Amino acid sequence: MILDRFRLTDRAAVVTGAGRGIGAAVALALAQAGADVLVSARTEAQLRAVAEAIEGTGRRAEVVVADLSDLDAAAALADTAARAFGRLDVVVNNVGGTMPRPFMDTSPRFLEAAFHFNVSTAHALTRAAVPHMLAGEGGSVVNISSAMARTQGRGFVAYGTAKAALAHFTRLAATDLAPRIRVNAIAVGSVATSALDVVLTDDGLRREMERTTPLGRIGDPEDIAAAVVYLASPAGGYVTGKLLEVDGGLDRPNLDLGLPDL
Ligand SMILES: NC(=O)c1ccc[n+]([C@@H]2O[C@H](COP(=O)([O-])OP(=O)(O)OC[C@H]3O[C@@H](n4cnc5c(N)ncnc54)[C@H](OP(=O)(O)O)[C@@H]3O)[C@@H](O)[C@H]2O)c1
Repeated sequence: MILDRFRLTDRAAVVTGAGRGIGAAVALALAQAGADVLVSARTEAQLRAVAEAIEGTGRRAEVVVADLSDLDAAAALADTAARAFGRLDVVVNNVGGTMPRPFMDTSPRFLEAAFHFNVSTAHALTRAAVPHMLAGEGGSVVNISSAMARTQGRGFVAYGTAKAALAHFTRLAATDLAPRIRVNAIAVGSVATSALDVVLTDDGLRREMERTTPLGRIGDPEDIAAAVVYLASPAGGYVTGKLLEVDGGLDRPNLDLGLPDL
């Protein structure tokens, strides 16, 4: 049956930034598909709530409270998951994000921090996961990139450049790790999470974003979770090195920060 290909029965997964938003929805979706899931972020109470939801599906959950901008902490998640679950099959590099800033306020240090948080974290965890995946049945890595990796919008030079680097990291890592480990990314459009609270609580801005999104709505975290399950599971078994655009049909940014000409 085709739906069986979307199952992750008895697999083990790590999801970073999994206390709320996209990461929390992804963690729960992977558990619903049959996986045990390690969830990590900085806020323990949120992680505990996600763990409870995972356990409600009958799967095991492991909580790791960590600041994942520490690359050793990010890498350590792979060993912790393998120890807790006896295997590691799926890694979702979801932690990331960088606030928009005008070009002249984007210092070299800010640009490097964006690269560190959006790319180096994914590299550190993926690299640590590889030996565990190869010791088992292979694996699948899903990186959470952004529509801003390919569209143009004022104020996003650090974020968009870092997410574009994550997209190409995905292609190159997929080449290095084929055939036993697949690596893909999702170019996420605007999704209703705490990261977008500041714009989505402004009714005017929200309506403008909906109007300029072909599908006429802001995405739900579950829109992204469904794509992760596809890429992580045998359903996506012939897909690697690809960027799946889950963005409501955007071909240009739907958020104009109104930054003036210099
Ligand atoms: N929402 C969108 O419209 C959108 C669009 C494109 C791409 N994305 C990408 O999707 C990913 C998730 O975003 P989201 O919208 O779901 O964000 P969110 O709602 O703000 O959730 C972010 C999660 O990451 C955790 N986190 C943040 N900083 C961390 C750190 N230093 N160490 C460990 N955990 C940390 C947060 O928990 P703590 O704060 O407790 O640590 C939280 O669990 C990001 O990579 C973002 O760039 C989002």
